[in-house]
Amino acid sequence: MSRFKAVIFDLDGVITDTARYHYLAWKRLAETQGVHFDEAFNEHLKGIDRMGSLELILASSQRSYSQEEKLALADEKNEHYKELIVTMSPGDLLPGAVRALDTCRTAGLKIGLASVSRNAFTVLDRLGIRGKFDYVVDAATIAKGKPDPEIFLKAARELDVPPAECLGVEDAVAGVAAIKSAGMWALGIGDPQTLEQADAVIPGLAQFDLASY
Ligand code: G6P
Ligand code: MG
Repeated sequence: MSRFKAVIFDLDGVITDTARYHYLAWKRLAETQGVHFDEAFNEHLKGIDRMGSLELILASSQRSYSQEEKLALADEKNEHYKELIVTMSPGDLLPGAVRALDTCRTAGLKIGLASVSRNAFTVLDRLGIRGKFDYVVDAATIAKGKPDPEIFLKAARELDVPPAECLGVEDAVAGVAAIKSAGMWALGIGDPQTLEQADAVIPGLAQFDLASY
């Protein structure tokens, strides 16, 4: 038995390593604009939506950009990202991801997905796991990205479970902050020092142990 009634997962960096592809696509884009981009900077972009990420990157640029130019750059990044994910398959599921989803299902918990990526449905289809979720938030319907709790609260509402009975799973600092301000229990994926706001942190879903949360 679990004290939770629902588990709400992030996608990129939790279920599959698309965080790597977002990194590569942003890095190329940043460098075309003469902006230095590395893993440390990328850490701040995890969980941040497309335009928000672009704004953070362009903040280090010498020049200013019109809204039209920004939209074109965001599109350019997204086209590159889509090229990178085109070959994804169930083989790209991170270790333990399917087992974690199946454990939650067997325990009778509802399962949601809260990713601000507008490519989330495509990625889920490529991974062959869309059917494992009771509800997937459509990022296009979300006004405020993480760290705002909106996306997690929407998932909880659609799953019909009070936030206090939801466990959120996230690899991003902004994502963990969103889970906490939604009033949920936060399981971090990654480094405990980076994800200090999380209630517990594991290296990956291979270590997911529902009974101990
Ligand atoms: C996720 C990723 C971010 C990405 C965002 C938007 O939150 O962690 O790195 O920028 O989704 O993704 P999109 O596919 O809509 O550009
Ligand atoms: Mg993520």
